[in-house]
Amino acid sequence: MENKLLVTNKDLMVPARKNGYAIPALNVQNLESVKAVAEAATEEKSPAILQITPSVIKYAGLDYIVALTKTAAQTVNVPLAIHLDHGEDFETVVKCVNAGFSSVMIDGSFLNFDENIALTKQVVDFAHPRGISVEAELGKLSGVEERSVEEKEAILTDPDSAAEFVQRTEVDALAVAIGTSHGAYKFKSEGKLDFERLKIISQKVSIPLVLHGASSVPQWIVEKAEKYGAQLEGAKGVSEDQLQQAIKLGIAKINTDTDLRLAFLATVREVLATQPKEFDPRKILGPAKDAMKEVSKGKMRLFGSSGKA
Ligand code: G3H
Ligand code: 13P
Ligand code: ZN
Repeated sequence: MENKLLVTNKDLMVPARKNGYAIPALNVQNLESVKAVAEAATEEKSPAILQITPSVIKYAGLDYIVALTKTAAQTVNVPLAIHLDHGEDFETVVKCVNAGFSSVMIDGSFLNFDENIALTKQVVDFAHPRGISVEAELGKLSGVEERSVEEKEAILTDPDSAAEFVQRTEVDALAVAIGTSHGAYKFKSEGKLDFERLKIISQKVSIPLVLHGASSVPQWIVEKAEKYGAQLEGAKGVSEDQLQQAIKLGIAKINTDTDLRLAFLATVREVLATQPKEFDPRKILGPAKDAMKEVSKGKMRLFGSSGKA
């Protein structure tokens, strides 16, 4: 890899799991979000993962988003990884690796067990000889409230299957389903993660574990956005103490997208509402970038990655 500060997820996650902290994996989509994470990582002396979904590739263009993230990795003095988040097929993985990503996720969670293994193994066999690390997912990230015990069993990650999956695929990190879900509306009531399950998975699987759908949906950000007209009734995330508990039980990478989006939204709305004469995009998006940076720094402190660069 041309720059020693462009590292793989594996380089970052293995010491994290060993030493009881987690790497923030922050979803980026444009100049502002990339700069927000790069500046946060620099100020916190924290490693970080810049992650990019297929829909961001569609939105920004692969070349543009790679140029932005590579520039970040080459400019800052802390280790960053450029990671494909929720890669949906082998072809997307190949394109991203060839474009300069250092890590990929292949998300075969929509497939049956053997098909998920086959797709993941195909990606591992392509990625490993090229020095690229691979994350896979077992279980389904969908809300588990108001579901029967049988339904939960069908959705959440089964510890024995997780051990078999890792052994057969030789994957570097495994995303597990323990009750989180993507987006701003994760829970109607208290929102408890299945730590008993995570504990058993951790005992059976020694590679770093990944928590998706981990935004906290901070109420002060929701309230600020609502004050300036946003409609976010019922938005609720994973509490910060549950995230710390998850780290203690083997989670070494925590994915956050929604909290950055909410910070962006609340600040753009505030600027537009309080400065109605403003029409310079930099004066609107600059403060939004700073708000995303503050959220990113908060994650680094909470996850214990600050000072670990
Ligand atoms: O899981 C990843 C995201 O939060 C969804 O992102 O809208 O870029 O596909 P996307
Ligand atoms: P959130 O929607 O909770 O931020 O989750 C993001 C995620 O898992 C990206 O892969
Ligand atoms: Zn995710």
